[in-house]
Amino acid sequence: MNEISTIFATVLSRIKPTGEEKTRLAALAQTIIGRIDALGKKEGFDISARLVGSSARGTWLSGEHDLDIFIMFSPEAERDYLEEKGLYIARKIAGQAEKWEERYAEHPYIYAIFDGYEVDLVPAFSVRSAADIKSAVDRTPFHNAYVKSKITGLEDEVLLLKQFLKGIGVYGSELKTHGFSGYLAELLVIHYGSFTGVLEAASNLVPGTTIDIEKHGNVAHKDPLVVIDPTDPARNVAAALSLDNMCIFIDKAREFLKDPTEDYFRAQAPQPLENDEFKNAMSSRETNLVALVFAVPDIVEDVLFPQLRKLEDSVREMFEKYDFRVYNSGVWADEIAVVMFELESARLPCAKRHTGPQVWFGEHAFAFKSKYKDSKTFSNVFIRNGKYMVEIPRKYTDAKRFLESEVLKCGLWKHVALSIKKDYRVLENDEILEVMDEEFRMFLRKFFEK
Ligand code: CTP
Ligand code: MG
Repeated sequence: MNEISTIFATVLSRIKPTGEEKTRLAALAQTIIGRIDALGKKEGFDISARLVGSSARGTWLSGEHDLDIFIMFSPEAERDYLEEKGLYIARKIAGQAEKWEERYAEHPYIYAIFDGYEVDLVPAFSVRSAADIKSAVDRTPFHNAYVKSKITGLEDEVLLLKQFLKGIGVYGSELKTHGFSGYLAELLVIHYGSFTGVLEAASNLVPGTTIDIEKHGNVAHKDPLVVIDPTDPARNVAAALSLDNMCIFIDKAREFLKDPTEDYFRAQAPQPLENDEFKNAMSSRETNLVALVFAVPDIVEDVLFPQLRKLEDSVREMFEKYDFRVYNSGVWADEIAVVMFELESARLPCAKRHTGPQVWFGEHAFAFKSKYKDSKTFSNVFIRNGKYMVEIPRKYTDAKRFLESEVLKCGLWKHVALSIKKDYRVLENDEILEVMDEEFRMFLRKFFEK
């Protein structure tokens, strides 16, 4: 136990914001909030700004300089009004920032850098309860109030949990990660009372578990983990968490409790895979890689990644349908997107057995027989287990060619479809080394070593 508290102390000394850091952050938040409120008054808008998110709750990790500042409008305001006036205010405020850009979640907001801090300026409705929200972001002030009322004295526990989740690679509820959000980490600590309490509970977690702190859940959820939002009985805070990320957490919680070390709190980026390592892996695994490469459309990651995963699933299905067995697959994106498949074999024999109807289904049987009687086949029509069969030449014997010709026929979502229609390439085995990007090479190492 002593050992564990030494680890916690060491980790906290690294991740806990210092007094000076806290003062600077609070001062900056006050300045920006003051400017927004003053501008609102001057322009005659009924708004008020406030700080929300982990920086308002004392649960942000040292060195992470991000401020979530909400511009609250009356719940009676129209959505168009909120978007127009909210952005107008936010743009004016951001005019004093080092740089800024407009971003889009459920509705538009401004992302800006002030004094090196990343600041989100988000217009929201100040609705009466989290169950009456008009837009997803409207819940955040309720989360803030709830967490603030429960978290005093538990802040360090939250920091440890967030850093642990980062260290094992499952922090972040974005659709790229499918992991734990900051709010979920806070709720787990509130429920189990400490970081160690959360890990002990995690080591016995099973899919389908529901945690309902306020005992008010009123909707059935099918997600692997259900944590009912204390501020909204209908919402699962853990909805974004994937089964595999939940299981990584279970697995690492057990390992850590058995043999605690500081390593769990350090996110280690994999080493980029070198060319010769790639070649060795390919020749010893004896599998084949086929990768679809195209330009990344100009959309946010939360829109991009579901589309890439959809593409991955559709291509995988299509490969299987044409008898190519997919051993592993993955997606990577930066300026280009790479959707990669490891196949048991990228070549199939030319001969393919084609199954027809049962012999006793007169009409179908007749049609099958007459279709294949004179066509170019490897065999006569024959019978196995009561069905007609014939051996015919396979349409695609080569996975690369197959993907090149068929990719546009598989299920694609909008932006990815448009980008692929414009241009794409299919790379095979060593050709994949043409992608030199360091981050891609890290992805390659993870792809092989898992
Ligand atoms: N939020 C949410 N669901 C999400 C993401 C965010 O409800 N999937 C809300 C939470 O109330 C959260 C706030 O938006 O506190 C701000 O989001 P974010 O900055 O992503 O999270 P933080 O809680 O601030 O955590 P971090 O320390 O990672 O910034
Ligand atoms: Mg935040």
